[in-house]
Amino acid sequence: MNDLCDVNLSRRNVLIAGALSATATAVPLTADAQQQQPQQPATTPPPTKARVSFQVNGKQQTLEVDTRTTLLDALREHLHLTGTKKGCDHGQCGACTVIVDGRRINSCLSLAVMHEGNKITTIEGLGTPDQLHAMQAAFVKHDGYQCGYCTPGQICSAVAVLDEIRQGIPSHVSADLNAKPLLNESELRERMSGNICRCGAYSNIIDAITEVAGRTA
Ligand code: FES
Ligand code: FES
Repeated sequence: MNDLCDVNLSRRNVLIAGALSATATAVPLTADAQQQQPQQPATTPPPTKARVSFQVNGKQQTLEVDTRTTLLDALREHLHLTGTKKGCDHGQCGACTVIVDGRRINSCLSLAVMHEGNKITTIEGLGTPDQLHAMQAAFVKHDGYQCGYCTPGQICSAVAVLDEIRQGIPSHVSADLNAKPLLNESELRERMSGNICRCGAYSNIIDAITEVAGRTA
């Protein structure tokens, strides 16, 4: 019986002590007490602007940009190269495809400040209205577009695809990873699958790429 009382007593004491400490915690500090609190070291805010230099279509460019600016927005809003299109802005449609140091990327998924020293090619850098790039001419010849919104991305992607095949880079449908990839329709369709065309000009796009591939293979 005594043991039981001791247990109850000590449990009650523990509860009272806990309640007192909770009350003490909830009491606001006086102004004096607050002044005596150790000051938190001030954190340095991250830089919001940065300078980046890269080459776009053969021309050196230096921009002062918000560090959150995508390469797509840097091209369109800062350099006014509006040929590169913004479709989804989420890496899902390929409308924003540009070529960076020989590789195609979705420029909406890449920050401008990551491209210091890179060589960037946009649709404006491939050809001119008077002197079309072979891929641009083939798209015109084969009706590889309807509304044209996806076309700059399709053409940049197609140019880089043929380079990938020439360099022997396999795709998900390459049967033999060690053999030179074939230049057939399934390879081209797979490699172009990141470029969506809402108008459905896919078969004409493949015809255009196949023609250029035949010429340059
Ligand atoms: Fe970049 Fe759609 S706008 S992938
Ligand atoms: Fe219209 Fe491709 S031509 S989305």
